[in-house]
Amino acid sequence: MFPIQRPRRLRNHPQLRRMVRENILTTSDLIYPLFAVPGESFAKEVKSMPGVYQLSIDKIVEEAKEVYDLGIPAIILFGIPADKDNDATGAWHDHGIVQQAATAVKEAVPDLVVIVDTCLCEYTAHGHCGYLQTGDLTGRVLNDPTLELLKKTAVSQAKAGADIIAPSGMMDGFVQAIRSGLDEAGFEDIPILSYAAKYASAYYGPFRDAAESAPQFGDRRTYQMDPANGTEALKEIELDIAEGADMLMVKPALAYMDIIWRVKQATNLPVAAYNVSGEYSMVKAAALNGWIDEQKVVLETLMGFKRSGADLILTYHAKDAARWLQG
Ligand code: PBG
Ligand code: ZN
Repeated sequence: MFPIQRPRRLRNHPQLRRMVRENILTTSDLIYPLFAVPGESFAKEVKSMPGVYQLSIDKIVEEAKEVYDLGIPAIILFGIPADKDNDATGAWHDHGIVQQAATAVKEAVPDLVVIVDTCLCEYTAHGHCGYLQTGDLTGRVLNDPTLELLKKTAVSQAKAGADIIAPSGMMDGFVQAIRSGLDEAGFEDIPILSYAAKYASAYYGPFRDAAESAPQFGDRRTYQMDPANGTEALKEIELDIAEGADMLMVKPALAYMDIIWRVKQATNLPVAAYNVSGEYSMVKAAALNGWIDEQKVVLETLMGFKRSGADLILTYHAKDAARWLQG
């Protein structure tokens, strides 16, 4: 008989554990989401997301400086416009809220990477991610008319200074439409981070409070993916890669670590995981009750995303995590 195997030999000292550690989590992996609203010196905490605020542009700029000083390389901007309509005018208007925010941040903190979420749901009166026939109350999003609006939106965002375009509406052909729009407008060098595998998830609930973007009727199941499907995610990424995506996102993250893994195995592109609002709120709620150790739980979860294959992590915990990683 051989002697019993003793994996614990390599766990007996902190330095040894450090030497055999397989993954690392660094501040470079993090992307911090911000919500821009009209107004001045305005900050309103999102009820369901303690520590997350809707911010006027001057406050967004302050946050951007702080994020940059913490060593976080990028933010992703969402906008809540003053007015919403059927054409999502606020999404593609050259002076839309996100366009203004992107310009202001790039002016104040030029080295911070500004990613902009490209979708219509924050800007449509009905709250869907695409175009509906006027008067439609069934929520049947029309794919190809939506592409035209997304193209306009992406171009105006690039004009405003966005460094990366991140389309999140799960329309068929959206990467190709946006790529051609950007190229025609002279933005060949602006990359696309596609929300390639985005599921119809209840974990987006708190975000919809933050972005005031809950659909007024119907739901998003005709465009976002069925949580029961895994192989279909590979179909989605195959299409997005063919259409010219530069990076791929899986969303949500926690209940979809198998998808992060499968996507990473299937592609040589960078993969991002979106640790979404509901995942943040659950941790916050438990932490505020004193039921869990927030720092340990968050760092363990983020490491889990790295181990699953994520190269980048969008998380509302990014600033906290950056501080904890320094400390
Ligand atoms: C917009 C969008 C959503 C999120 C990011 N972009 C919400 C949705 O699809 O309803 C969710 C992010 C989060 O929950 O943190 N299409
Ligand atoms: Zn949307």
